[in-house]
Amino acid sequence: MSELSVNHLLGIKYITEKDVELIFETADHFKEIINRSIKKVPSLRDITIANLFFENSTRTRLSFELAEKRLSADVINFSAASSSVKKGETLVDTVNNILSMKVDMVVMRHPNPGAGIFLAKHVNASIINAGDGAHEHPTQALLDCYSIREKLGDVAGKKVVIVGDILHSRVALSNIFALQKLGAEVMVCGPKTLLPKYIGELGVRVETNLKKALNWCDVANMLRVQNERMEISYFPTTREYTQQFGLNKSLLESLDKEIVIMHPGPINRGVEITSDVADSKQAIILNQVENGVAIRMAVLYLLASKMKHDDR
Ligand code: NCD
Repeated sequence: MSELSVNHLLGIKYITEKDVELIFETADHFKEIINRSIKKVPSLRDITIANLFFENSTRTRLSFELAEKRLSADVINFSAASSSVKKGETLVDTVNNILSMKVDMVVMRHPNPGAGIFLAKHVNASIINAGDGAHEHPTQALLDCYSIREKLGDVAGKKVVIVGDILHSRVALSNIFALQKLGAEVMVCGPKTLLPKYIGELGVRVETNLKKALNWCDVANMLRVQNERMEISYFPTTREYTQQFGLNKSLLESLDKEIVIMHPGPINRGVEITSDVADSKQAIILNQVENGVAIRMAVLYLLASKMKHDDR
């Protein structure tokens, strides 16, 4: 039986193309199951999972929780805002206390890049990174690529532009790694101030003219400006950002061909994308959300089955 090459999902950087293919095949199976009238399977019945969210989240937290429940795992939820972290407890202490309640897997979102990698070295559980600062958000990239595969048949050979705040976006970095692993051509587009200095080293095309980028691509992934990660101004005003990098209906209709529109959410309607575009038939934003549950079920299932094998 095929299995993942890793015991944790810390970032797309650390997994292989084969791992991604295995996750997609497993997600195909779970997607079929969650569309049945009985959506629950007993696969993770003896597994306890802690969802540790040290940073805000709506979609990702709900999606993981639903995936865990559909697999019949026992689930505990922890959010930093209402915990002893505020009393000065360290990350390892917090997690070890939770693990002593016999938790097998930890899904963690944390504002510090590398928090999951650190944790995986110090605690005895399978760790899934649900977003670590501006570093990686692997399940988002997996569900994004899976949604492209579903819509266009394949990821290989497709041209994908990631638009907006590349500098502060974990979604951008994980997507770049995942798309490249699967053989897509990747472009980033945004204001120069929001493109990291090392971007050239990642082997992606760089464009600062949105219309040119959109005319090049098959798929445009529109990112939110991560205001919460900015201490200085990276562009003069939101209105100017929208004028240069916002996607609206007239721009979309002026393109040579029909492209697919994606967004990881949460959307700032009227800033990076207008409502008519977000709600148009070219947008697959809600399909991304639906696929997120199947992808997370696949990741949890594959990591849990590795754990069982390692125990033997
Ligand atoms: C993203 C995140 O939190 O990194 N959202 C998500 O997980 N769907 C993107 C964002 O916050 O803009």
